[in-house]
Amino acid sequence: MKLGKHLACDPAVHRVVAIDGPAASGKSSVAHALAKQIGFAYVNSGAMYRAVTWHALQHAISPGDSAALIRMLENSCIDCDFEDNESRILIDGINPAEHLHEDRVNDEVSTVSSIPRVREILVAKMRAYALDYDLVMEGRDIGSVVFPETPYKFYIDASPEVRLRRRVAQGRRDQIAARDHADSSRRASPLVLADDAHVIDSSNLSIEDVVGEIISRLKIKGMIR
Ligand code: CDP
Repeated sequence: MKLGKHLACDPAVHRVVAIDGPAASGKSSVAHALAKQIGFAYVNSGAMYRAVTWHALQHAISPGDSAALIRMLENSCIDCDFEDNESRILIDGINPAEHLHEDRVNDEVSTVSSIPRVREILVAKMRAYALDYDLVMEGRDIGSVVFPETPYKFYIDASPEVRLRRRVAQGRRDQIAARDHADSSRRASPLVLADDAHVIDSSNLSIEDVVGEIISRLKIKGMIR
């Protein structure tokens, strides 16, 4: 894997571009394209919560039964690595990638991700990625909780109408308003706008426009030339 490694003061921690925002704001497409353009590895933290949700459902564990879910997780082998510069999660050797956007996963992922112990386990995996690689990581709490010290924070938003339209265009049934409400109102690491994040409203922008704006900011900050 060819990635731009960076020798910072702490040689163990690499650069992280944090991209947060609500559902269907365009952050996955933007984070993916940005990572490719600047040669960083791409981490989709939402996929990690989705994978755990899918795994629980496969084992007939109710997402509301946090004790059973935590027990399952603590007894599972969770491997997080990269494939073609993109994060990949294997649970007990199974890669659930093709199942991550099933309706039942959409419906339950916010419940699963509201469990503090689930977050603790997955956040440790997210931080471990930065021990070896420069990252573009997208999610809900990347700039606020996972890597609060990174100077490269972005918050991508779009109007509720545009976000709903985008999800429908992807052919997916997804209660994004309900998920946004759950993600923003939960106690553990809710979706918040970090004070020092640069906000981009992508409602009327293309993916290339948003990536361009992020790259301009990263240049101003001296992260890239
Ligand atoms: O793609 P979309 O924006 O719809 O969602 P996602 O990034 O795949 O995240 C799915 C769900 O995982 C979110 O609705 C959150 O409940 C949860 N999540 C989280 O709690 N923290 C993160 N850093 C990323 C996702």
